[in-house]
Amino acid sequence: MSKVTVVGAGNVGATAANVMAIREVADEVVMIDIKEGVSEGKAMDMMQTANLLDMNTRVKGVTNDYEATKDSDVVVITSGIPRKPGMTREELIGVNAGIVKQVTDSVLKYSPNAVIVCVSNPMDTMTYLIHKVSGLPKNRIIGMGGALDSSRFKYYLSKALNANPNEIEGFVIGGHGDTTMIPMKRFAAYRGVPATSLLDKETLDKVAADTMVGGATLTKLLGTSAWYAPGAAASEIVEAVIHDQKTLIPCSALLEGEYGEKDLCIGVPCIIGKNGIEKIVELDLNEEEKALFKKSAEAVHKTNSALPC
Ligand code: LAC
Repeated sequence: MSKVTVVGAGNVGATAANVMAIREVADEVVMIDIKEGVSEGKAMDMMQTANLLDMNTRVKGVTNDYEATKDSDVVVITSGIPRKPGMTREELIGVNAGIVKQVTDSVLKYSPNAVIVCVSNPMDTMTYLIHKVSGLPKNRIIGMGGALDSSRFKYYLSKALNANPNEIEGFVIGGHGDTTMIPMKRFAAYRGVPATSLLDKETLDKVAADTMVGGATLTKLLGTSAWYAPGAAASEIVEAVIHDQKTLIPCSALLEGEYGEKDLCIGVPCIIGKNGIEKIVELDLNEEEKALFKKSAEAVHKTNSALPC
C-alpha cells in the first residue's frame, strides 16, 4: 500500500495529485490545504473521473488534518504563495519560509520516514530550509526544479528542431531561477544526435535563454505561475521514488563537496529511487559550465542568507 501526501491543493499541488492519480503512481494520494473545503472538493472532482479514466488511485482531500497524512511514503510540499507577473521567485522567501517550516514540522510528525519533495519557491532555498529544520538525511529531501526546467528545455528544443518532445534529450542544472539556470546545451540531443550539430549557435542560445525565463513567460501569460508542467514534474519524481525506478532526474540536492560546492541545495543530476536521492552524478563540466555553476551557486547562497533561521 503506497501513500503520497500533497501539501497545498492550489494549482500546482492539485495538478501533481491529479497526474499521480491518473498515472496510478500510488495507491492513495492525500491532498491537504488550509483553505476549508478546497482539498475535499478537488479530491471529489478527481474521484469523479475514476470511472471515466479507469483510475484505481484513491484521492482524498482534507483541511488542516495532518493525521490523515499519516505514514505517507512521499510528501510533496507545494505550500506558499506563487509569484505574480514581474516578480522573481526569490521575492517569495519572506512569506514562504515560515509556511514551509511549519508544514515540514507537521508532515514529519505523522510521516517520520517520508521522502520529501519540495516544490515551493524559491525552490532551492526552501529545499535547503527543509534540511535545516528537519535534520533529515540528505537523500530524503528532493527539490523539484531541475525536472521542470529540463522538461521546458526539451520543449523549446523540440520547437527549434520541429521534433517530437519525446525524442529529445536535455537537462538543466544550477538554481531554479531566471538567471541561475544552466541548460546543458552540450548534452542536448535529438535521438542521440547532438543538438549542437543540428542547430546553429544562435538558435541553441535562444533555446537556452527561453528555457531560463520559461516560468516567467508563463507567469506573464497566466497572471500567476504555471502548474501543468510543475505538477507533472513533481509527479515524475514521486513516481521514481515509489516505484524505485533509479531514474536520472536533475533535482535540487544538498551538496557536500560535489561540484566543488557545499552547504546549499542546487540542481544537479540525481539518481532517484526508493531512498530519494540515491546518488548525485558528477559530470565533468568544462570551464564555461564550471564558471556558470559557480555563479549560480553564489546566487543561491545569497538567497539562502535571507532565510530567517
Ligand atoms: C515555475 C515555477 C513553479 O517555474 O517556479 O513555473
